[in-house]
Amino acid sequence: MTTPGRLPYPITLPGDGITLREWRDEDLDELVAMLDEPDIARWTPMPSPFDLEAGVAYLKRARQGRLSGQRLQLAITLDGGKPLGEVLLFGVDAGLREAELGYLVGVHHRRRGLASAALSLLSGYARGTLGLSRLLLRIDPANTASTSVARRCGYRLTGEPPILQEGPYGPSSLDTWELVSAGGGSRKERLRNVAARRYGRRN
Ligand SMILES: CC(C)(COP(=O)(O)OP(=O)(O)OC[C@H]1O[C@@H](n2cnc3c(N)ncnc32)[C@H](O)[C@@H]1OP(=O)(O)O)[C@@H](O)C(=O)NCCC(=O)NCCS
Repeated sequence: MTTPGRLPYPITLPGDGITLREWRDEDLDELVAMLDEPDIARWTPMPSPFDLEAGVAYLKRARQGRLSGQRLQLAITLDGGKPLGEVLLFGVDAGLREAELGYLVGVHHRRRGLASAALSLLSGYARGTLGLSRLLLRIDPANTASTSVARRCGYRLTGEPPILQEGPYGPSSLDTWELVSAGGGSRKERLRNVAARRYGRRN
């Protein structure tokens, strides 16, 4: 597969229990309800409060990014209908064959494996269809939910220095994670996840 100059548009990616699809104008109310939420304000660069005006601007920017082929920005759905979250691929460097990914899930739909399923699906597409070999995540180490998703999907911390940034919650730093294996980590880790579920431990 060749590394893309422009990312394909439009696409629909069916996966294991989820479907990733393009954002639509009629998603506006669902989008605003989803993004106007404290964890999303805390861990992502979304404006807060996230109102209708922010939603209109967000969908417009998403469409521009898709039409220009610069990013993949897809709604996470169960079957192509109601959006429950979002997964993105951006910052594509065709020369280095690398890109960054990001994700969020609406507060009422968390802890059901949606982020993990969406990240795995998009990572597989990025490697297989787009031919990108280096897939990266940037995560604040205090964001336990996000680091757990990363680990579960086969991403590992790199030794790259943290990226320092100023935000509304004060200074923070983002670690870089890289996909080392597709499909949910080592056997030992999968067994640990099974044990965690069985005994109710959250890590
Ligand atoms: C991070 C986020 C996307 C996770 O979405 P999700 O759909 O709940 O994630 P999953 O259900 O796939 O969780 C996978 C594993 O991560 C871990 N995890 C998820 N949420 C967690 C939490 N709040 N605390 C601790 N571990 C958590 C669990 O191990 C979970 O597996 P389990 O519930 O079967 O034990 C969601 O919490 C979110 O949208 N947060 C705000 C936005 C954000 O932080 N985005 C990432 C920026 S880098």
